[in-house]
Amino acid sequence: MRIGILGTGTLATALATGWTRAGHDVSIAGRSFERAEVAAKASGARARWLPEVVDADAVLLSVHWEGIADILTAAGAVARSLAGKPLIDPTNAVEHGIGVLRTERGRAIAHLVADLAPGAHVTKAFNLFPATTWMTSAPSPVTVAMCGNDQGALEITGSLVRDVGGVPAVLGGLDRARQLEEAAGFVISLAFAGVDPQSAIPAVPSSGADETPQPAARRGGRSAVGAVEVPQST
Ligand SMILES: NC(=O)c1ccc[n+]([C@@H]2O[C@H](COP(=O)([O-])OP(=O)(O)OC[C@H]3O[C@@H](n4cnc5c(N)ncnc54)[C@H](OP(=O)(O)O)[C@@H]3O)[C@@H](O)[C@H]2O)c1
Repeated sequence: MRIGILGTGTLATALATGWTRAGHDVSIAGRSFERAEVAAKASGARARWLPEVVDADAVLLSVHWEGIADILTAAGAVARSLAGKPLIDPTNAVEHGIGVLRTERGRAIAHLVADLAPGAHVTKAFNLFPATTWMTSAPSPVTVAMCGNDQGALEITGSLVRDVGGVPAVLGGLDRARQLEEAAGFVISLAFAGVDPQSAIPAVPSSGADETPQPAARRGGRSAVGAVEVPQST
């Protein structure tokens, strides 16, 4: 698959590394071509210019939330360069150290992304786990909760989750993005306070509980959380 990455920082480099390792053709671009070259060298991806990088089968938006409007504009998203494409949004508009969301009440940053990229099929994913999760070649399996309105984009995002060792679980439509972003704020605030976030989550038995994270539908349980049927690596 041809994957374009907007952003040249920590998460962009980590996912570029994982997807390159999985055999994808990954291109990376940011507001600095020099930093794109550094990220490309570290990850095995190719450095490209911003308008070129969205010529891809899927695009990851991996910038600080304050840079979202600038980078999407520079990539031509406002002029529909991303229309019809999966646009994966892992961003967290979170006040670091406090965990409070910077978006207005009821709004998710994913909704802003959708507004700035008309026609793009936005999926919220990869916003909960630290970038280092995706750097190892054999990570412990983790469930990547995600959401979006387009089934095809969810399937592609799910396949890219699997390619870096995660298990996708679809929460629902993009209206669930705020919940995923609040969950990240919760995790970040505890981590900054020196508390292991996992210790604050009850070990509630799930139906058909298994040692390995599984999407709910695979476990045969009745749940609003669904499996996404995804092809293996392309
Ligand atoms: N790192 C993680 O573990 C992690 C995990 C989950 C989600 N996330 C989310 O992923 C996103 C990227 O995080 P990161 O850790 O990779 O951040 P980072 O290493 O600080 O990189 C930030 C990126 O945003 C770009 N940027 C900042 N302001 C910009 C602007 N005005 N216009 C264009 N680009 C701009 C930076 O470009 P320059 O280099 O040119 O400044 C850089 O490419 C964030 O939204 C974060 O919340 C991160």
